[in-house]
Amino acid sequence: MLFRSEFVIEKANYKKSKIHLLLDKKAANESYILNIDEHRILISGDEKGILYGLFTLIQLIHDEKNEGLSAPCVSIKDTPRFQWRGMHLDVSRHFFQKEFIKKYIDFLAFFKMNIFHWHLTDDQGWRIEIKKYPLLTKIGAFRNGTLIGHDTDFPRLYDTLNYGGFYTQEDIREIVSYADKRGVTIVPEIEMPGHAMAALAAYPELSCTGNSISVAKEWGVFEDVFCAKEETFIFLENVLSEVMDLFPGKYIHIGGDECPKTRWKECVNCQKIIKEDKLKDEHELQSHFIKRIEKFVNSKGKQIIGWDEILEGGLAPNAAVMSWRGTEGGIQAANENHYVVMSPGSHCYFDHYQGLPGNEPLAIGGYTPLEKVYSFEPVPAELSIDKQHYILGAQANLWTEYIISEKQVEYMIFPRLTALSEVVWSLPVNKNFNSYEKRLAHILKLLDKLNVNCSRSFYNISMQVYPGKNSGIDCSLSAGDVSKTIHYSVDGSNPNANSPAYKSPVSILNNTTIKAALFDGNKMISSVISQDFSINKASGKKITLKHEAHKNYNHGGAFTLVDGITGKLPWFGRDWLGFLNTDFEAIIDFGSEQLISLIMADFLKAENSWIYYPVEVEFLFSMNGDEFVSVKKFDEADLLNMIRCVIFDREAFSARYIKVIAKALDRIPDGKSGSGNRAWLFIDEIGVN
Ligand code: ACM
Ligand code: ZN
Repeated sequence: MLFRSEFVIEKANYKKSKIHLLLDKKAANESYILNIDEHRILISGDEKGILYGLFTLIQLIHDEKNEGLSAPCVSIKDTPRFQWRGMHLDVSRHFFQKEFIKKYIDFLAFFKMNIFHWHLTDDQGWRIEIKKYPLLTKIGAFRNGTLIGHDTDFPRLYDTLNYGGFYTQEDIREIVSYADKRGVTIVPEIEMPGHAMAALAAYPELSCTGNSISVAKEWGVFEDVFCAKEETFIFLENVLSEVMDLFPGKYIHIGGDECPKTRWKECVNCQKIIKEDKLKDEHELQSHFIKRIEKFVNSKGKQIIGWDEILEGGLAPNAAVMSWRGTEGGIQAANENHYVVMSPGSHCYFDHYQGLPGNEPLAIGGYTPLEKVYSFEPVPAELSIDKQHYILGAQANLWTEYIISEKQVEYMIFPRLTALSEVVWSLPVNKNFNSYEKRLAHILKLLDKLNVNCSRSFYNISMQVYPGKNSGIDCSLSAGDVSKTIHYSVDGSNPNANSPAYKSPVSILNNTTIKAALFDGNKMISSVISQDFSINKASGKKITLKHEAHKNYNHGGAFTLVDGITGKLPWFGRDWLGFLNTDFEAIIDFGSEQLISLIMADFLKAENSWIYYPVEVEFLFSMNGDEFVSVKKFDEADLLNMIRCVIFDREAFSARYIKVIAKALDRIPDGKSGSGNRAWLFIDEIGVN
C-alpha cells in the first residue's frame, strides 16, 4: 500500500471478508483506521477518512494467483501530514473534456490528493463560461492555430486548425459536486494581470492599448496584459463573483505570475494610478492590483492564493503564496506570516521530462524523474520552527503546452503522482524509496488493469558517466531489474541479445555512440537508450568552478562540462549547468602540458525560461595554475550573432591549464519574460583540441 503512518502485517492472506464502515465523528480530519483480520474488514474514520481507508484497501488487494481477491491482515492507523495535497491541470493550452476532468479527479482522490487546482484561463484559451461576458468563451475559448513542435524550434511552424472549447456553468457545477463526493476541493484559477491574451481578444478595451489582438497560438509570456484601470477591476470583480458562486472552496487562485510591465510603463491610465496612489513603480502597481482584488474576494468571505510573483511590490495582507520559482518565495511568505503551498519547478513540475529526452514524448524541458519527486521535502530546512505551520502542503503542476491528449496527461502524471502522494501524506520518517519502489510495482499493475497509461521510464536503463580511470570517460549502465541482462553496442547499431553483455564500466576514448537495452533472454524488454559522446582533450579532466552552479541546475556538478555529453535541445536540466547571480568561471587542469589550438564553450538560450547567452566570454591559459594569460576576449558585439558555441581557433600554443570566464546578462530586456531580472547563464561542455 502507498500510504501509511503505522502498519503491521499480522498474518497471511485471507479471502471472503465482510467490510464494515464506521463513521467516527471524533476521528481527526481525513484520518482512518483500517483493520483486516480473518473475519472482517473494518474501516473507521471521518467521512473523508473512510473514503481513504477504502482506497487503501483497494490498493492492498491482490489477485495475482488468480485464486480470487485477497488482502493481508493488517492494522493501519493513518493520517495525512499536510492539509494541501494538490494537483494542477492546465486546460487552456490544451482543452480536456468534462469526462476526462472527472477521471482526473478520480486519480487524485484515489491517491489521497484533496486539492484540484484548475487552471481555467490563460493566453491560449478562456475555458469557463461567464454569463455576464459571453465573448470570453465565444471568442476567447478558441484559437486560430497552434504551434507545432517546440517553441525553441526555428523557424516556428503553426497548424491552421481552429482549436478550443470551454466548460459551461452547468458542467462546472457537475464537476464540483463530483469532486466534493470524492473529498476533492477545486481551486479555480483566473489569471491576472498577465496571461490574459484570450480575455483581451474578447474584450480589447481592458488592455492598455485597446488594440485588437488574437488568442495566442504559441507559448510564452505576452506583453498585452490587463490594464490596471477601474474598468478592468469592475470586469474582474464581476467575473470573480460568478466564479465564487460556482466554487464553494475557500481559495480562489488569481495567478499573478509572469506579468511584463511594458504596456503599463507606456499607459496613461496605469501611470495616473501610480501617481495618484503614490506607488514607486510598476511592481507596486502589480501589488496594488492584487491587493484590490484581494479586498473584493475577502469581502465575499474567500481567500486569494497566487504564484510567488505576488510578493513583488509587497504581498496583499491575507494572500497565500504558491511558490513555483524555487522555494525562496515560499520561505519569504512564511516568514511574513502568510500561508504557502510549495510547488517548485525543480520537484513539482510534471510537464518536465521523467526520463532521458531521446526516449520521451516532446516536453517543455527540465528533468524531474520519479526519485526526485519522491525526495521532495515541502518544509524547507531554512524555515524556523514557529513558521513551519505556514506551509499548508505541496502541489504538482501539469502545464499542457506539449501535452495534447488525455493519454499523454496520464503518462506525465503517472507514476509521479504516486510519489508526490507519499510526499504530502507520509511523515518523513516513514518515507523510504526502496519500499516505495516495491509498492509501486503493485500499483502499476493495478493502473494497467484500469487502462491508465503509466510511464515506465523509471525502469529504463540509466547511464552514469565518470572521469575515465585511464583517460576519456567511463560509462556505467544500470537497470531497475537486476535479474535481467543489459546488452549494448558502441558502433551505432541497435543492440540485440548477441551484443556484448554489460558487466563493468565501458571506457570511451573516442567519439562514440553507446546504445543499450534490457533483455530477458533473447527478448528486449526496455526501450533502447542511446547516447553520443564527443571526446576531446578536456574530456574527463579535472575541472574546478569558482562558483557552484545553482542547486536546481547542478546535476553532475562541474564534471558535467567535460563529460563528453553535449547539452541537448530542447534543454532539460541534466546536461546543463545553470548559474544565477554569479558569473561563470572554470579552470581545467590537463595534468600535463598540452598543445592547444581550439577552445570551445557551449551556451544555451531559452528566453521563456529567462536563460540568455553571455555578454562576455574570455579564454585564458596558464602553465602553473596561478598566473593566467588571456588568449581571447569576446565582447557583446562579438557574441551578438553567436549560436550556442563560442569557438576560439588559433595557432597552437602550450598550456597545462585553461580558464573560461563568462559574464551573464544583467537585466532581461523589457517585453521579455522576466524583464528586469538578471538572466540565467546555462553552459554545457567545454571542448579543447
Ligand atoms: C508558472 O509556472 N508560470 C506559474
Ligand atoms: Zn494601462
